[in-house]
Amino acid sequence: MQVVKTISELRSARRNLPAAVGMVPTMGFLHAGHLSLVRAARRDCASVIVSIFVNPTQFAPHEDLDAYPRNTARDLELLAAEGAHLIWIPDAEEMYPENFQTWVEVVEVTRPLEGLYRPIHFRGVTTVVAKLFNAATPHQAYFGQKDAQQAAVIQQMVRDLNFGVEIKVCPTVREPDGLAFSSRNAYLDPEERRAAAILFKALSNAQIAFNKGERSADLLREIMKTALNSEPLANPQYVSCSNPDTLLELTGQINGCALLTMAVFFGKTRLIDNMILEA
Ligand code: PAJ
Repeated sequence: MQVVKTISELRSARRNLPAAVGMVPTMGFLHAGHLSLVRAARRDCASVIVSIFVNPTQFAPHEDLDAYPRNTARDLELLAAEGAHLIWIPDAEEMYPENFQTWVEVVEVTRPLEGLYRPIHFRGVTTVVAKLFNAATPHQAYFGQKDAQQAAVIQQMVRDLNFGVEIKVCPTVREPDGLAFSSRNAYLDPEERRAAAILFKALSNAQIAFNKGERSADLLREIMKTALNSEPLANPQYVSCSNPDTLLELTGQINGCALLTMAVFFGKTRLIDNMILEA
């Protein structure tokens, strides 16, 4: 396993990698969700590149950029154990040198859901992912369903800008109580951690109703809200039942698939989760 820092080091190491090359972009503090993406890339590709970069441009000034958990030594141990080949850990000066002024912005699909509450977030994500792809030129890149809107936004960017990379979206990996693995779970105190299982419970309750034939988008949102309101430590920011392609809110009867998504605060910690309802 080779570890590099600069873009020129990455490019020279990349030249020696056997094809196909798979890439897993991350912000580090790796958990079982990230490692499932590395494993999928290992399964499909001869070589696997993992990037670790806490991207400042996707955090608003009031968000948790400085507090974001980091542990590079541990990340490298985990990645070596998974058999990743090339690890790229750029610094912020390398990615955003002085006079940086070019942004990649996907329009419609970034507007609802997370976009309503984190208006500059996806512009930062698409800009950094475009830069990661341009530097590493992977054949395939792996993203988690955990961040459903992010996966949709990146697929849109790749289509619109003709990136020569195939995007693979992998299932959400969960703790035994259903809580999706997230680097931000590290912020939860033990009481909040216990309470956070309510996200999966709320999504599951709506899924059970859907599987029994419930098709009212309003009612499915109500089912999720009722579950979240039963947990005093949970403070929901939004609860949504949307079209999985456009991410626009569904009204009336659902005709086909739907995407359930939510953002919920536990103290200062903001968690997101989602589930797809298959028709
Ligand atoms: P990060 O939050 O570190 O996540 C890296 C990748 O891991 C993303 O594709 C995310 O969806 C996936 N992931 C996170 N938790 C998961 C889980 N429980 N199960 C499955 N996959 C999971 O997402 C980012 O970083 C950044 O926005 C990035 C794309 C790297 C751009 O900066």
